[in-house]
Amino acid sequence: MSTLTIFSSVPAHAAAEEAPAVTSRPIPAVLGADLEVPVKGGRLVGYANLDYAASAPCLEPVSAAVTAALPAYSSVHRGAGYASQLTTARYEQARHTVRAFVGARTDDAVIFTRNTTDATNLLSRCLPADTTTVVFDTEHHASLLPWQKSVRLAPPAFPGEAVRAADEALAGIEGPKLLVVTAASNVTGELWPIAALAHVAHRHGARILVDAAQLVPHRRLNLTALDLDYVAFSGHKLYAPFGAGVLVGRRDWLAAGEPYLKGGGAVRSVGDDTEWHDDPEPRHEAGTPNVLGAIALAAACDALTATGWTALVREEERLIARLRSGLAAIEGVRELSLWGDDHPRVGIVSFTVDGYSAREVAETLSSEYGIGVRDGKFCAHPFVRHLLGEPERRSSAGESEGRSGRDHEHAGGCEDGTASAVRASIGIGSTQEHVDRLVAAVRDLASR
Ligand SMILES: Cc1ncc(COP(=O)(O)O)c(C=O)c1O
Repeated sequence: MSTLTIFSSVPAHAAAEEAPAVTSRPIPAVLGADLEVPVKGGRLVGYANLDYAASAPCLEPVSAAVTAALPAYSSVHRGAGYASQLTTARYEQARHTVRAFVGARTDDAVIFTRNTTDATNLLSRCLPADTTTVVFDTEHHASLLPWQKSVRLAPPAFPGEAVRAADEALAGIEGPKLLVVTAASNVTGELWPIAALAHVAHRHGARILVDAAQLVPHRRLNLTALDLDYVAFSGHKLYAPFGAGVLVGRRDWLAAGEPYLKGGGAVRSVGDDTEWHDDPEPRHEAGTPNVLGAIALAAACDALTATGWTALVREEERLIARLRSGLAAIEGVRELSLWGDDHPRVGIVSFTVDGYSAREVAETLSSEYGIGVRDGKFCAHPFVRHLLGEPERRSSAGESEGRSGRDHEHAGGCEDGTASAVRASIGIGSTQEHVDRLVAAVRDLASR
């Protein structure tokens, strides 16, 4: 029987711990690396998962942390029993780990949510009255849509233009303002100038929310060093597919906002009047939280930190460069890019293949080559339309457009049935064979 250690001295929402020392452990394995899938003719081939930007596979240390937590799994914040105390301590420890992972300030709130979408929606409901949000049309719908009052900016032609456009927009707004921007595009992988945008936001008395869903699986983020006010991300893109995400950032708006969910845990007392918690964490985490999700998310943070970013980034850059140059050499294949070939990016490449719909490409890659990619507009309709050179339809983001939508009629999808792209994305566990198989398959297809 394993020894149980209670972090009973860990007070809820206490100061952040130092980030764990970087020990440069080997890159951890992912579950499912040996998954075999059927292809045409009934053969089984090793699955080439090139769809990490949608949901990454589970890291082994994450699965191990969840397995280790399960025997003592119990209620949090409520029980006097040993297992309940232990589980509560693990849950609160996960908060500290996430805080350290993003380099948050000691007094920042760390609120566990379901995912990034949940986190942006939570913040949207806590904005001071009459806040204007400034947001680029390049955003994922999770960061584009939740805002009551927003100014939408066209895709900027170069990074400096993003800063200039934000500067101009923020200067013209009275009252509370929030700039929302994604750190790494889920469509092109391109990195955005978030430090410069934070600087501009603060110069105009605005705050900045950074959607870090596609950044944190690939690069170190330091909220304090970058002077960001809020960051949001999802566990399932960070090798922790157990249903938790997080919103980290300044406490005041979150402490004043209407409790996100109303129920047990969010209240201090209920009588004729209801007294809500002022601390953002209990205030916005009513009900029994996703403890295993939080433990998993923290285990992923620990595993990435222990591996060290240098090793992770080096391997990713090697593979993504190989993938991009392989695709670039194929006639009829066009990579989508906002800021050009040389702009730094994470392990995401979106492309089109002349003569084929994105769905045809994705289906062929799956059924003939055992390769998993994403096709569509990746819940970033205005941006993908822009990159594909389609006319702007500003009001339609996130709406069904009533087309036959042959490609994507499934409930809950993000697609509108119009022209779209293929996206390949990599991370821990991606191999050179996966990359080479994709390039060879696209070459085959393009020459048919
Ligand atoms: C940049 C970005 N933001 C937000 C989201 C939404 O994440 P989730 O579906 O986990 O809420 C995604 C998901 O693809 C994303 O890529």
